[in-house]
Parts: sequence; structure tokens; C-alpha cells
Amino acid sequence: MHDTKQVSADKATAYAELMQSLDALLAGEPNPISGAANMAALLYWSLPDLNWAGFYLVDAASGDLLVGPFQGKPACVRIPIGQGVCGTAAARRETVVVKDVHEFPGHIACDAASNSEIVVPIIVGDRLLGVLDLDSPRTQRFDELDARGLEALVQVFLRRCPAEVSGTRV
Ligand code: SME
Repeated sequence: MHDTKQVSADKATAYAELMQSLDALLAGEPNPISGAANMAALLYWSLPDLNWAGFYLVDAASGDLLVGPFQGKPACVRIPIGQGVCGTAAARRETVVVKDVHEFPGHIACDAASNSEIVVPIIVGDRLLGVLDLDSPRTQRFDELDARGLEALVQVFLRRCPAEVSGTRV
């Protein structure tokens, strides 16, 4: 069993700790759904002030984002590229930090408790595979340190789980 604990209060230290924890957690099993499930659980149970952490993965048939492994309340299943915070990050192919979701036009409210959000696209080469999405009940929970930290964690995920994470596997 992997024992999760809250990370250090200092964000730079926290993400350094998570890099090590995630690398160890994903070692030895390249299946991307298994890896994504454990990564979502690690983030949800380690980072403070989250009410949702998980993945939306590109559905090869429709091109939409479909909900993947996550922790938190049940979420909306399908998000077209370009819609909501997830679809915006996917369309722009860059991390989107939303300090107050109520001021983001088109925000999709899956959990009424969410007040801020960060979405990191998952890209291999020129191919978008999905996004990593974290929600918080605290306004202004996420900043540039979270963006850079989560982007680095996505790279650990892609190195440990290099196989496809989209299409018929989802
Ligand atoms: N708020 C997201 C939808 C997904 S939930 O937060 C889990 C969005 O606007 O895309």
C-alpha cells in the first residue's frame, strides 16, 4: 500500500516531494489508465484544498474530452474541445489557471464547491491526449508554481506511462 500524506506547505518543496512520490508510484506498470488513476489519487490526497483531481482524455471517435480516472464527486462526462476550462486548455494547448471560476466565461460547474481551477494539457509530440484538471473550494488556490509543478508531474506520468491514453482504451 502507498501511504499518502499532505506535502510540505512550501509549494516548491511540495512539488519536489510529489515528483519523487509519483515517480515511485508509477514505476513498473506502464498502463496509462492505472497510472492516471493512481496519479489522481496521489494529487487529491496529498495537495491541500482540493475537491476534485483527475483526467479528461481525448475520445478518438468524437474528438471530445471524456472523463477519465479521478478523485472527487462524479463529474460531467463529455466536454467538447474549446468549451469550459478543460476544453479551453485543450484548444490552446497551454495550462489555464482560473483564480475564480465564477468569472470564467463558459466554466462548466461539475461541483458547486469549486471556486478555482487549473487545467494542464497532456501533449505528446503534436498530439493532444487529454488534460489534467484540479479544482479547489478556495478562490485563488492555484498560481504559476502550481502550473509549473503540475506540468512537470505530467512529464513524469508520460515517461512512466508512455502508451496511448486516448481512443478505445478509455
Ligand atoms: N470545470 C471544468 C469541468 C470539469 S470539472 O471541474 C471536474 C470545466 O469548466 O471544464
